[in-house]
Amino acid sequence: MRITMVGTGYVGLVTGTCFANTGNEVTCLDIDQAKIDKLNQGISPIYEPGLDELIRRNTKAGRLKFTTDKVAAYQSAEIIFICVGTPSDERGRADLKYVLAAAGDVGEAIENAPGNTGGDVSEKRRKIIVVKSTVPVGTNAKVKAAIAAKTSKAFTMASNPEFLKEGAAINDFNKPDRVVVGCDDKGTGDRMRDLYEPFVRNGHPIFIMDIPSAEMVKYAANAMLATKISFINEIANLCEHYHADVDEVWRGMTSDKRIGNQFLYPGLGYGGSCFPKDVLACISMGDEVGHPTQLLESVHQVNQEQRKAFITKIDKHFNGAGLSGKKFAVWGIAFKPGTDDIREAPSITIMKHLLEQGAEVVAYDPVAHETCHLVLGDQITYADDPMHALDGADALIVCTDWDEFKHPDFEEVANRMKDRVIFDGRNVYRRHVLREHGFNYYCVGREPVVSESQTA
Ligand SMILES: NC(=O)c1ccc[n+]([C@@H]2O[C@H](COP(=O)([O-])OP(=O)(O)OC[C@H]3O[C@@H](n4cnc5c(N)ncnc54)[C@H](O)[C@@H]3O)[C@@H](O)[C@H]2O)c1
Repeated sequence: MRITMVGTGYVGLVTGTCFANTGNEVTCLDIDQAKIDKLNQGISPIYEPGLDELIRRNTKAGRLKFTTDKVAAYQSAEIIFICVGTPSDERGRADLKYVLAAAGDVGEAIENAPGNTGGDVSEKRRKIIVVKSTVPVGTNAKVKAAIAAKTSKAFTMASNPEFLKEGAAINDFNKPDRVVVGCDDKGTGDRMRDLYEPFVRNGHPIFIMDIPSAEMVKYAANAMLATKISFINEIANLCEHYHADVDEVWRGMTSDKRIGNQFLYPGLGYGGSCFPKDVLACISMGDEVGHPTQLLESVHQVNQEQRKAFITKIDKHFNGAGLSGKKFAVWGIAFKPGTDDIREAPSITIMKHLLEQGAEVVAYDPVAHETCHLVLGDQITYADDPMHALDGADALIVCTDWDEFKHPDFEEVANRMKDRVIFDGRNVYRRHVLREHGFNYYCVGREPVVSESQTA
């Protein structure tokens, strides 16, 4: 099939590359010339394990192309996937300006396309416009109207929310737990099923449903996952007040099969480009129909408070002296391991606070220095190695649980630092190990370790 992906970001680039890898002819379109130039030089603009190699292989085979030429990309495609961003607007609603702009472009290109693509074209040959971006219920109808406003020629619509996780995106897309397609007619459903068939050889289902339900599935899934994170953080905070250990509580609680142990890890709360904005969009969807989503409002609130509570731990430790002039090593900038995405990353909130208080920050992340530089520039120093970040530091803050941070040589850590103080936002370390090495150690939902030799 000839496919055009509109928006060559985390979703458009990964899914387009995987579609090419199953033999489709894929054009990835973007309005960002620099991104397309990079891709045409064989450089991926994002970090995603395994992606570079897949791009190289499929580009070489002539199945994967990158362009900013909208008209050609839209006119040649049988299926057009809209994968542009849907960030929060100032009121927390999903901002549809990129989606609707793309829809307008699609309409114009269809209208001006040579050949007969009029209303009498057979169902099988009608272009399918697929909304893959995460959008509030009712958006597909708006996209359809925006396209129809520019053309009288026939096309059909589908909603196809994406569930890939950054850091495991290729595997998630190639072996999805499920594929969800919303559409209004059987022909469109059948063609979408054909496209996805190579990805569900594992026997996992393709659910074909009505469009509003498909749009809602994505929000329901992300809202549930965000709720799990805020739930366990709420319990972790209670544990701290009552001198309980959230690790023990987690074990006792998650052995109940009805609860399960996935996605219930206490820490700095959720970040990234999806959960924060999707929870807010869900809240807005409720407000717009006069149905306040009280649970989700709390999920959002707990998540916001989680970062503040962690920052309070840092401030409290240095209470007497304040943070001005202190030097902090930060391990991990990305919002989670496996990606260079720093959108809504807790690390950024924490580092901004440190900088505002006059502290010095030396950060290390295996892949996210470039993306961080776009936000914090040279206000912080980027270390080329986690150990170098520690030199002369008053404290280490762990913001992302990359594997390489999990078993450091604590004697070396201690020798490089000015003071033995660790704030662990991901509960990566074992308390008794830190105690043995004489650290002051603060984590989430567990008693801090306060070593006698250490004073703030
Ligand atoms: N990132 C994820 O893990 C993930 C997972 C599932 C769903 N989603 C959803 O998918 C959508 C895209 O997310 P993303 O993280 O890939 O976004 P992104 O910001 O990484 O990429 C979006 C791209 O669209 C391009 N663009 C904007 N307007 C355009 C236009 N008119 N024509 C062509 N290109 C245009 C931008 O230049 C950018 O490169 C969002 O709705 C998001 O919620 C994201």
